[in-house]
Amino acid sequence: MKKARVLRFVCYAVFAFAVVGCHPDMWIQPKFKAQAKDDFFSDHSSSRLPVKGTVPFGEPPVDSALQRGYKDGKLVRDFPIPVTMEMIKRGEDRFNVFCKHCHGAAGDGTGMISQRGFDIERPIANYQTERLRKMPVGHFFDVITNGYGAMFPYSDRISVEDRWAIVAYIRVLQLSQNATLKDVPKDLQPMMDDPEGQLKKIDSARNGGGPPTDVSDATPGAPRGDDTK
Ligand code: HEC
Repeated sequence: MKKARVLRFVCYAVFAFAVVGCHPDMWIQPKFKAQAKDDFFSDHSSSRLPVKGTVPFGEPPVDSALQRGYKDGKLVRDFPIPVTMEMIKRGEDRFNVFCKHCHGAAGDGTGMISQRGFDIERPIANYQTERLRKMPVGHFFDVITNGYGAMFPYSDRISVEDRWAIVAYIRVLQLSQNATLKDVPKDLQPMMDDPEGQLKKIDSARNGGGPPTDVSDATPGAPRGDDTK
């Protein structure tokens, strides 16, 4: 008899809980759904941006000059890392892998792809223009990182350090096509007066003082025959 009473009490309690305790407030509640329109905020967007100045927890702060090519909202004019000969050589190597086929060995926009039918509304850029010579280094970093017009971005394939190395090499290319005698170091200036003679001397030194070989093949720009057949 007692047992039955206890059982009845438990049944009443469960029934009362089901009716009173389990109401759908947690289900139907004022909340924002991701990407949904909402009138609470003035821009009617339920998804909010982080508060201005928010710093991600556990991640190193972004070095804007180094990682974006911008400082205080402006393109940087100075390299954010020291430029060394090793870096320039690395830049040359990466440029030849990722850029030369379009932009050309001298960066004048005449790479093999542009010669052989890369036919789009805007041509492949020539770095040897007045505008691009005067562009801050940050611009080149930004173009490699985010792409530019018809050119796709390279940030997933080229590391930040390698991007700066390529930018340094682009500056070398620009100088190579727009230098004066004054830019040549003093000890190399005689070579400018007699390049053939100097090349022969260098060649003979390489051969251990033996007779110079024909340097015409090694001269930059020497015709190489028709490779289009
Ligand atoms: C598939 C061909 C292609 C490759 C590869 C390529 N580019 Fe370009 N690049 C273009 C084209 C096309 C433009 C012009 C885009 C436009 O004006 O819409 C351009 C434009 C540029 C510009 C000029 C931006 C300006 O202000 O006018 C720079 C600088 C540049 N590229 C750098 C690079 C570098 C550095 C690489 C290698 C990491 C590279 N590009 C690889 C096709 C290429």
